[in-house]
Amino acid sequence: MVSRVISVDTFDFVIFGGTGDLARRKLLPALYQRDRAGQIVGDTRIIATARANLDAAGYRKLAREAIEGFVKPSERDDAGIEAFLQRLSYLSVDAMGDGGWKDLAATLKGAQDRIRVFYLATSPDFFGVISSKLGANGLVTPATRVVIEKPVGKSFKSATVVNDAVGKVFTEQQIYRIDHYLGKETVQNLMALRFANALFEPIWNAAHIDHVQITVAETIGVEGRGGYYDTAGAVRDMVQNHILQLLCLVAMEPPSALDADAVRDEKLKILKSLKPIDERNVNALTVRGQYDAGASADGAVPGYLEEIGKPSSQTETFVAIKAEVENWRWAGTPFYLRSGKRLAERMSEIVVSFRPIPHSIFDSSAGQIIANQLVIRLQPDEGVKLQIMIKDPGPGGMRLRSVPLDMSFADAFGVRNPDAYERLVMDVVRGNPTLFMRRDEVEAAWHWIDPIIEAWGQSAAPPKAYRAGTWGPSAAVALIERDGRTWHEDGAG
Ligand code: BG6
Repeated sequence: MVSRVISVDTFDFVIFGGTGDLARRKLLPALYQRDRAGQIVGDTRIIATARANLDAAGYRKLAREAIEGFVKPSERDDAGIEAFLQRLSYLSVDAMGDGGWKDLAATLKGAQDRIRVFYLATSPDFFGVISSKLGANGLVTPATRVVIEKPVGKSFKSATVVNDAVGKVFTEQQIYRIDHYLGKETVQNLMALRFANALFEPIWNAAHIDHVQITVAETIGVEGRGGYYDTAGAVRDMVQNHILQLLCLVAMEPPSALDADAVRDEKLKILKSLKPIDERNVNALTVRGQYDAGASADGAVPGYLEEIGKPSSQTETFVAIKAEVENWRWAGTPFYLRSGKRLAERMSEIVVSFRPIPHSIFDSSAGQIIANQLVIRLQPDEGVKLQIMIKDPGPGGMRLRSVPLDMSFADAFGVRNPDAYERLVMDVVRGNPTLFMRRDEVEAAWHWIDPIIEAWGQSAAPPKAYRAGTWGPSAAVALIERDGRTWHEDGAG
C-alpha cells in the first residue's frame, strides 16, 4: 500500500543550529524523506545557519553524512540525495551577536510572500534573543512561523520568560512548540481509535475503565547530553511534555472538531484537572530513581553518576507517578505514568485496563477471567491490541483464554512508518498547529510539575537506585501493587 502525498506550497525553511545534533539526526533526514516523497516542490529552499564557518559545499557534505547516517539504506537513493542537497544553502550567523544577520536578510529578500519557517534547533536559552533579532531585522512576515523545541523553560516561571520573549515578535498562531510524541503515528491513531469508532467512547470513563498506564521506557543512557539532562531529569525531560500530552489525548473529552484550538482546549482542561501533587502526598504518589551500573543489550554500562562525572547529582533518571484526573469522567480511575533511561527494554505504550466483568456465569474449571485491556503500542512494533476472553477452541469443557485482537500497523499496511518529525515539519509548512502545544498548555503542565519537583527538593531522601537494565526501583512496582494492580508486561494479558 502506498501512502498518499499531497505536495505543499514552496517555502523557505531556515534552521538555526543547522550543524547541531537535532538538525543532523532529525530535521535533515525528515526534510529529505518529504522531498523524496515528492511533497516538497518547486524552488523550496532550506537555509541552514550556525556559527561555524562553512560554505554551501561544506554544509551539503555535512547534510549528506547526516542522511546517510540516519536514513536507512533502503529509504534513500543517491540521485534523490543529490537533488535534495541542491535545496540547501548555508549562512554563518551569530545568534547572540550581529554577524550574518544582514546576509540572512539579503537571502530572504524578495521572498516576502512565501511561507517562511524559522526552526530554532538551538538551546532554549537562545529562543528569545533569536526571535528578537528576527524581528529587528524585519524578517518576520505574515506568512512566517517559528518552531521551538522543548524544553520550553524549566519551570512555570522560566517558561513564561521564554514565551514572553518569543511572543513579543510572533503571534501565538505563528508559534509552533514541538512535542515530537504528537507526531508519532500511533499517537494520532489514538485519536482515530477514540473518535472514528463508536465502540469505545460509551465505555471510555471511570465506570468501565479501571486504570490507565502510560510507559515510555528507554534503554539508552544520557548519550552525551549529560550537561542538559542533569539540569532536567526524567520528569522535566519526559513527563512535563510527552507523557502529559499522551495522558491528555487519552483523557480529553471529544473535541467538537479536529481543529487546533478545539483539540487544545480539551487537552488544557485535562491538565487543569490533574490532582495536585506536593509535599503532602509526593511520597505516596511518586517514585524517583537513578540508575546504577548494570547491563544493557550492548553489555556492561556505568551508572548515571559515573556517566555524567558528577558524583553528587540527585537528578532522577526514572520517575513513576500515580496521577488522577479530577473530573466526572475519570474520578476513581488512576493514570499510572512511568518513564526512565537504562531500563530493560525500549518500549512505549498506553494500556487502558477495563473493569472486570460484574458477574461470572462460568465455574472455576473455566479458568480465570482476565479483564479486557486495550494496548496502544507507540514503539517499537507500532500497533493496537485488544485483549479479550474467548473459549479455548476444541471439544471438551468450557475453558476460557485471554487472546489479543492484534493489529500491528507494519503488517497490516506494509507502509514505511514515517518519523514524527516528517509529519510535524510539514504541518508547520501547511500552517496546521493541531499537533503543537499552545502556550497555556505548556504553562498548565508546568503548573502541575513544579510542586512535584519542589517537594522532591525539600526531601532529604535521594532518588532510589536501580540497576541499569532493569525496570526501575522496586518502589515503582510497589506504587501500583499497593492498589492491587501490576505494570503491564507484554504477553501477560
Ligand atoms: C526527547 C528526550 O524529547 O525524547 C530524550 O529529550 C528522549 O531524552 C527522547 O530520549 C525519546 O524520544 P523517542 O522518539 O526516541 O521515544
